[in-house]
Amino acid sequence: MHVTLRQLEVFEAIARLGSFTRASEELFLTQPTVSMQIKKLTDAVGLPLFEQVGKKIYMTDVGKELFTACRDVFASLERFEMTVADLQGLKQGQLRLAVITTAEYFIPRLLGPFCQRYPGVEVTLEVFNRERILQRLNDNMDDLYILGQPPEDVAVTYYSFLENPLVVLAPRDHPLAGRKRVTLPQIARLPFIMREPGSGTRQAVQRVFDHHKLAINMRMELGSNEAVKQAIMGGLGISALSRHTLTFEVATGELVILNVEEFPVRRSWYVVYPSGKQLSIIARTFRDYLLNEGKTIVDSAYAGTRP
Ligand code: PGA
Repeated sequence: MHVTLRQLEVFEAIARLGSFTRASEELFLTQPTVSMQIKKLTDAVGLPLFEQVGKKIYMTDVGKELFTACRDVFASLERFEMTVADLQGLKQGQLRLAVITTAEYFIPRLLGPFCQRYPGVEVTLEVFNRERILQRLNDNMDDLYILGQPPEDVAVTYYSFLENPLVVLAPRDHPLAGRKRVTLPQIARLPFIMREPGSGTRQAVQRVFDHHKLAINMRMELGSNEAVKQAIMGGLGISALSRHTLTFEVATGELVILNVEEFPVRRSWYVVYPSGKQLSIIARTFRDYLLNEGKTIVDSAYAGTRP
């Protein structure tokens, strides 16, 4: 049977609209062209597709069968078109990520294999503390956000994809190093180095001490994880940071993790975006990649950095 897509398109419009005139208008075709297409289609099928009663046209039984088949054909062509668009979309395009400072330690490790898999994807990575990330999220400036805690006052969709334990760090020669159990009041007395206001790490640390009604003996405030680590090594005090900020400092013995009650604080990393945001195919693919492969890749990146 020799049937063209054009003939099916004309037939579908007439069947749906119940009129040759309206079908010709919708398809921007002349009436004789529409009639000609239907005649050719009827010849190809070998049976009448429409019958006219008075001024109205009706589908014959064969016409109804063809109508169902048409819908199937057009639906699957539409799906195919979407797949092609998706594949083209993944070949090239932008992925705008905004990640919280602490995530800068492992997000680049995750981006490596992703960019190798999709070489046409151009990634921009912005790194800010929690406060600034939340501002950007409110202003809908990026595709995806990586945070240590989803915001409570903004409608967002979020998925946790990795653990984010918060550990207490001290210099190697610290008197509490190696102790089996250190209490929270003991820690509260020691000089403590804090991240800057607006930091998610700071919020999480503060929450632990607040919960136990203990005040922190704050020695100094520093604006980055690296500065905090250097200050601990310099003997200025102790602090609590995400274990992901540790690369080789623990393996080489420059920093030690203290066994403090209530620690490690169990937290997670989340991939977050405003509720209702239509994610691009690239953003969706990266989100699914984090959820499915994030943990394995980060674990292997950190293997060997632990004592
Ligand atoms: P921060 O946040 O980098 O702003 O401290 C990290 C976190 O929330 O875990």
